[in-house]
Amino acid sequence: MIRRVGAAEIASRKGAAFPVVTAYDAPFARCAEAAGIDVILVGDSLGMVVLGYDSTAQVELADMIRHAGAVARGAQRAHVIVDLPLGTYEASDEVAVASAIELVKRGGASSVKLEGGENVASRIRAVVQAGIPVCAHIGVLPQTAALGSGFRLKREHDRMLRDADAVAKAGAYAVVLEMVEDALAAEITQRIPIPTIGIGSGPRCDGQVLVLHDVLGLYPDAPPFAKQYASLGETATNALRAYAGDVKAGVFPAERAERTERATAASEESSYRP
Ligand code: KIV
Repeated sequence: MIRRVGAAEIASRKGAAFPVVTAYDAPFARCAEAAGIDVILVGDSLGMVVLGYDSTAQVELADMIRHAGAVARGAQRAHVIVDLPLGTYEASDEVAVASAIELVKRGGASSVKLEGGENVASRIRAVVQAGIPVCAHIGVLPQTAALGSGFRLKREHDRMLRDADAVAKAGAYAVVLEMVEDALAAEITQRIPIPTIGIGSGPRCDGQVLVLHDVLGLYPDAPPFAKQYASLGETATNALRAYAGDVKAGVFPAERAERTERATAASEESSYRP
């Protein structure tokens, strides 16, 4: 059995620059792992970039379980962090532990992530005590941003330090800093003993995380801090346009007799995928 990267190993990366990327299905989990990325986040950004919602708020535990399972099957060795979606951990420590256990048992999560600072310290402590490693998430909190916590860059110095201290003390093995002002993110990174994983928080965090669809050019509303490394949306559209054109022109499929050796009836039958 191949052993996955553990939370303790990620915690030991304090001071080292390491990449994290989101994934939501087996093929892209395989791509991330083949690219040498051994920490994959099944984020509830799933709701926007894959399920077509306009926020993460509609995502349910069942969605996370289904997509986390696909990622865990696609990536053999990577650590798979899975988001606890809105409504699955706020009510009590017991609810948080029960939801986290579902993500581990049915979704193959290596650890879970939840949003909040001082206010969720007790949840983090309870889930960690249940034996499930927790990655914290402070700064901009997408699950509640539209309800008032806000999408603006976080500059509240004392509040951010309190949140960072609280999640580290509660037992989180790492913390995502989302849209925290660069110098403040650097100060937090220097201050707390666990790795910070930045997104829109400047270069002086320990790790960095980006949403897969922003990296690959598959999502039209990527935030300005994201860097796009490919234009897969355009590539896919062009490929589909070519396919559609071939069908309309009667060029695909060719007559059986005209097909290449590789597409003989025998190989078609043996590799037929219903
Ligand atoms: O849901 C997500 O993808 C996230 C990242 C933005 C960190 O939480």
